[in-house]
Amino acid sequence: MKTFYIETFGCQMNVHDTEKVVGALAARGYREVDSPEKADLVLYNTCSIRDKAEKKVYSRLQQFRREKSKVFGVLGCVAQQEGEQIFERAPHVRLVCGSASYSRLPELIAEIEQGRERVTGLSLDAEQTFETPYARRRSRFQAFLTIIEGCDKSCAYCVVPFTRGPERSRTSAAVMEEVRRLAAEGYTEITLLGQNVNSYRDPSPARWDFATLLARVAEVPGIRRVRFTTSHPADFTREIVAVIEEKETVCNHVHLPVQSGSDRVLARMQRLYTRERYLECIGWMKAARRPIAITTDIIVGFPGETERDFERTIALLDEVQYDSLFSFKYSPRPNAPALALDEQVPEEEKGRRLRILQEYQRAIQIRKNARLVGTVQEVLVERFNPATGQWVGHTPENRTLNFTCAGSGEESLLGRYVNVLVTRSGPNSLAGESLTGTSPAAPDAGAGLGAPPTNS
Ligand code: 5AD
Ligand code: SF4
Repeated sequence: MKTFYIETFGCQMNVHDTEKVVGALAARGYREVDSPEKADLVLYNTCSIRDKAEKKVYSRLQQFRREKSKVFGVLGCVAQQEGEQIFERAPHVRLVCGSASYSRLPELIAEIEQGRERVTGLSLDAEQTFETPYARRRSRFQAFLTIIEGCDKSCAYCVVPFTRGPERSRTSAAVMEEVRRLAAEGYTEITLLGQNVNSYRDPSPARWDFATLLARVAEVPGIRRVRFTTSHPADFTREIVAVIEEKETVCNHVHLPVQSGSDRVLARMQRLYTRERYLECIGWMKAARRPIAITTDIIVGFPGETERDFERTIALLDEVQYDSLFSFKYSPRPNAPALALDEQVPEEEKGRRLRILQEYQRAIQIRKNARLVGTVQEVLVERFNPATGQWVGHTPENRTLNFTCAGSGEESLLGRYVNVLVTRSGPNSLAGESLTGTSPAAPDAGAGLGAPPTNS
């Protein structure tokens, strides 16, 4: 039997693509191993969102450049973006395949097995999504589920439209069927994935929009938590907030990337919304009958961003009071329209703005998390941390909660929902002690998931 090793870089979408690729390979008789040394086929599922992520892949490939007995393959965003140039930079690579061509992967692997020196899957005109009945999920109780692939926006800094191609939504019937199957297998938490889930549009005559799909998924018996990522402010609707209000199983957390608080920068980024429209979405959430945690992404140092623009972003943090955020220094990307913009912000200045922003947000998080001390939060237990002796899980609002559980030494809490009394707080997590009364575990629970959200 042939063996393979796969390493994944980047967002949740990539993590889930890997689960599908693993399933497709297993269906061809390949067995997964835990190190490249043991494998006949070594795959890297890559990310090119920022320059750093891309560099990592090439450094991995360099480690094995003299290795003749293995087949090396590059998948994902770097594969799509660099195409056949990868063969020049890393001549031992024999397979290059972007995510829009994954349905061809079994065929490409077959060609390699038949002795073809090099194969590529680089077409972006896929009209279909990557459907496979074989996805091998890494967790037994938390499942990612793709509802839409690709992106039709053209944010000036972003490579995604070039690496993942145009938007393709799955039919609502296919999504619902997968949710029901997952529930039957014991999965209780589902994360609906897409570069922009809000532009989901059922291609079948039912024509469900995202809010309808979310509500229907939330009603599937056995499903206790539904998450979704990523939302785009231009397509986010009041109906989505209404679904969160009505359906207990929809987690009260929305990741709504703003990127900048300045209208001038938003326009240059081609984000298709203003600060005012963004704040309208925030207003819907703040007025909701359930509290909703809000997180975001911010880019500092986009070309032309002035000190005054940056101050508008800081003022936005003040106004929204985000529960958490991801922040990045602008990184020029091949193909992305912003490459042609002048007024690049010097690296040092980007670094300064990033530090100020992160410090500012840290203070907000310390304050907000401290208010939760003394409350009881429900967590889905994802793993045990032997270094600290604590169990680790997330609250519905997506806060990390580390906790101890008296008498749980023998009994595994993985996959269970546990009520935890919060006793301490930090900027990035909470700590506490479990109260009695856990719910039954998912059968044969595996490890939890962990990856940043998809782009939007
Ligand atoms: N430079 C810096 N950050 C970027 N992101 C996307 N493209 C770039 C880029 N070229 C960030 C955005 C997005 C997140 C996933 O990554 O904030 O929301
Ligand atoms: Fe699409 Fe998001 Fe990239 Fe904008 S940032 S182009 S919405 S993937």
